[in-house]
Amino acid sequence: MISIVFIGGGNMARALIGGLKAQGRAAQEFLAIDPSAEARARLGLDTGVRTGETLDQSIGAAQVVVMAVKPQQMRVAAAALRPFLREQLVLTIAAGIRTPDLARWLGGYRRIVRAMPNTPALVNAGISGLFADAAVDAAGRNAAQAILEAVGEVLWFDDEGLLDAVTAVSGSGPAYVFYFLEALDRAACELELPPAAARRLAYATFSGAVRLAQASPLDPATLRAQVTSKGGTTERALATLEAADVATQLVRAVAAAAARGREMGEEFGKDH
Ligand SMILES: NC(=O)c1ccc[n+]([C@@H]2O[C@H](COP(=O)([O-])OP(=O)(O)OC[C@H]3O[C@@H](n4cnc5c(N)ncnc54)[C@H](OP(=O)(O)O)[C@@H]3O)[C@@H](O)[C@H]2O)c1
Repeated sequence: MISIVFIGGGNMARALIGGLKAQGRAAQEFLAIDPSAEARARLGLDTGVRTGETLDQSIGAAQVVVMAVKPQQMRVAAAALRPFLREQLVLTIAAGIRTPDLARWLGGYRRIVRAMPNTPALVNAGISGLFADAAVDAAGRNAAQAILEAVGEVLWFDDEGLLDAVTAVSGSGPAYVFYFLEALDRAACELELPPAAARRLAYATFSGAVRLAQASPLDPATLRAQVTSKGGTTERALATLEAADVATQLVRAVAAAAARGREMGEEFGKDH
């Protein structure tokens, strides 16, 4: 019996289905709808779930419909879904699509949870910000949480406006980390370390520092002070970063991402 229908069978649908199956859910519980034959074939091969080209009555009994298409495809996908809605929870993961806009496209349907996941979900290490419309009951919230928890951590927010901040911090965040990784990798190569060693050192340093911070009761500023001995190498490096005010630039970058998220919400929310 189908319990979760995915509209859009791309990368995120594959990650979520993979996570749910790893938790013991059976392939027969899922149906994925995607107009692309290539996407259907790939998803079917990777996960063993049933796929279809268009929605049909079989989704009437599903508990959850996950909307996993690109933001600019959401209005059309919502129009196709609208006639099939009974009491299913609609879980949208599309970046920047606000629940009032989606509710309008669904003809006033409000059992909607909006989630903002991030790409580490693809390796089961994601974090998602979640917001539920007031019309969603505890069972609906639990169902949405279980799906996103299959690929990482979840955090609920009562104010949908904060999802623009979540998008800027953790949604776009992997790119900031890759940017620093690239720079550390380049620095290591410029110091004539062999490229393979440079990359290993950069990756292990990032993941090790994050694990240390997560395991420690101390905040990052204290941990930084602890590895910065007076007159030493770290102090010299940090003085260079401080002189360029790298931290302020990062704060500005994340604020710019949040502002762009708000703009995109306005743009995507238009009815034409
Ligand atoms: N990747 C991430 O980490 C991440 C993080 C946060 C949020 N998201 C959100 O997750 C959503 C999905 O991302 P993705 O990377 O999985 O995208 P994707 O790989 O492009 O998958 C979307 C799939 O939906 C298909 N599609 C298009 N219109 C459809 C319709 N009307 N009905 C059913 N299927 C349709 C697309 O086919 P065509 O290719 O033929 O158009 C494509 O195969 C996006 O809205 C994105 O903002 C992703």
